[in-house]
Amino acid sequence: MQPAWPLLCLCSLIWAITGDPSADFCSQSLNSSVNPGFPETIKPNDPGVLRAARHTVERFNNCTNDIFLFKESHVNKALVQIVKGVKYMLNVEISRTICKKSKHPRLDECDFQTNRTLQQTFGCYSEVWVIPWLHKFEVTVLHCH
Ligand SMILES: *[C@@H]1O[C@H](CO)[C@@H](O)[C@H](O)[C@H]1NC(C)=O
Ligand SMILES: *[C@@H]1O[C@H](CO)[C@@H](O)[C@H](O)[C@H]1NC(C)=O
Ligand SMILES: *[C@@H]1O[C@H](CO)[C@@H](O)[C@H](O)[C@H]1NC(C)=O
Repeated sequence: MQPAWPLLCLCSLIWAITGDPSADFCSQSLNSSVNPGFPETIKPNDPGVLRAARHTVERFNNCTNDIFLFKESHVNKALVQIVKGVKYMLNVEISRTICKKSKHPRLDECDFQTNRTLQQTFGCYSEVWVIPWLHKFEVTVLHCH
């Protein structure tokens, strides 16, 4: 038996209990009183989108108790909206890497799991609000299933 198992089991138990495919991860509501622009599609490989996807997994990793880190594996769709800064709305797939959270690795250096038992991918919808001139960002919505 690997020491990894109790945690993995606990994790899947939590998934099973919460079962709700639109489970929330630390979601916060954004209180903005400005009139937003319309959302527009943006290329999934746009640098701003990729940064928003990274903020998304960082939030996911911080709010779940998997022993491994997840990393963005594919951005399916991205919208951008001007709201006191820029808001990204992403459909992003995130997958389990071989890096353990406890070792505080750099996510860029983490490869995806090749072990089928440990491979897992979630489809997530996230909203990431970025205020470039304040170097500030916030993941305001994160649903994964
Ligand atoms: C949002 O902000 C406005 C004005 O700043 C305030 O009056 C309102 O109570 C806030 N709403 C929430 C849900 O925080
Ligand atoms: C990570 O989670 C902790 C506890 O839930 C929270 O206080 C902290 O703000 C989170 N950090 C980020 C970057 O989400
Ligand atoms: C895959 O991971 C499981 C659980 O950690 C382990 O028992 C198994 O030996 C691994 N398989 C391979 C091929 O590494």
